[in-house]
Amino acid sequence: MNDVIELLKSHRSIRKFSDRPIPRETLLELIKAGQGAATSSHVQAYTVIHVKNQANREQIAELAGGQGYIATCADFLVFCADMKRPTEASERTGANVVRGMTEQLLVATVDTALMAQNVVVAAESEGLGICYIGGIRNNPQAVSDLLRLPAHVYPVFGLCLGYPEDEPEVKPRLPVEAVLKEDYYTEDSEQVKAFDTTMQAYYQARSNSNKDTDWSHNLTPLFDNKLRPHMRDFLIKRGFEMK
Ligand SMILES: Cc1cc2nc3c(=O)[nH]c(=O)nc-3n(C[C@H](O)[C@H](O)[C@H](O)COP(=O)(O)O)c2cc1C
Repeated sequence: MNDVIELLKSHRSIRKFSDRPIPRETLLELIKAGQGAATSSHVQAYTVIHVKNQANREQIAELAGGQGYIATCADFLVFCADMKRPTEASERTGANVVRGMTEQLLVATVDTALMAQNVVVAAESEGLGICYIGGIRNNPQAVSDLLRLPAHVYPVFGLCLGYPEDEPEVKPRLPVEAVLKEDYYTEDSEQVKAFDTTMQAYYQARSNSNKDTDWSHNLTPLFDNKLRPHMRDFLIKRGFEMK
């Protein structure tokens, strides 16, 4: 396969970074690569906040559940879904803008994620390591206040960037036959069972925090309680009213 495909398949999240700084020009190139992603109706419904203030980074690390690498990685970015810019631009032309539609929340969130993943691939192609930080949604209002986010903008996730000081193993993915189905949706519990065996071996053998579990059991904390139940009210308050 070609180098791009090999790069994509060798991704692993990095949670330990060296002190080496990322040159400003490199960071700008990564963001421009992010902007190259496809975007729904060319709306470009995202804003990236480069958090340079160290006290804010430490506070975000705490707000995200004590994830220290947010404070120690070379650069920390917060990817925000931004419906403020496009709706205001449209309004300035005299359009009668309708806000708060569920579709707008989806468009802005998808645009933001596509842009971020382009940044990630560009970063990894430059030898950088990354870790997405969904943990900022543990306390999204406090993070929004720190970043002075206006209405119609919400923080989707953070991203730690830096030169890796760790070489974790690549984490296995589901069998492609479970993910890619032909013509119709088919049951895949047998493939999940096989994947649980793969993941159990991976978790037992990996060098960082090995444990005795598998994929299905590892999902328990995601689904055995109401995950981040504050998100609905938070989004409504920010103007993503899900109408
Ligand atoms: C949107 C998103 C949010 C994530 N949030 C966190 C996080 O808060 N903390 C963390 O350590 N890893 C986080 N991760 C990393 C995932 O745990 C990781 O991608 C997954 O376990 C697969 O491992 P890999 O990236 O090494 O292949 C996040 C990943 C994504 C895509």
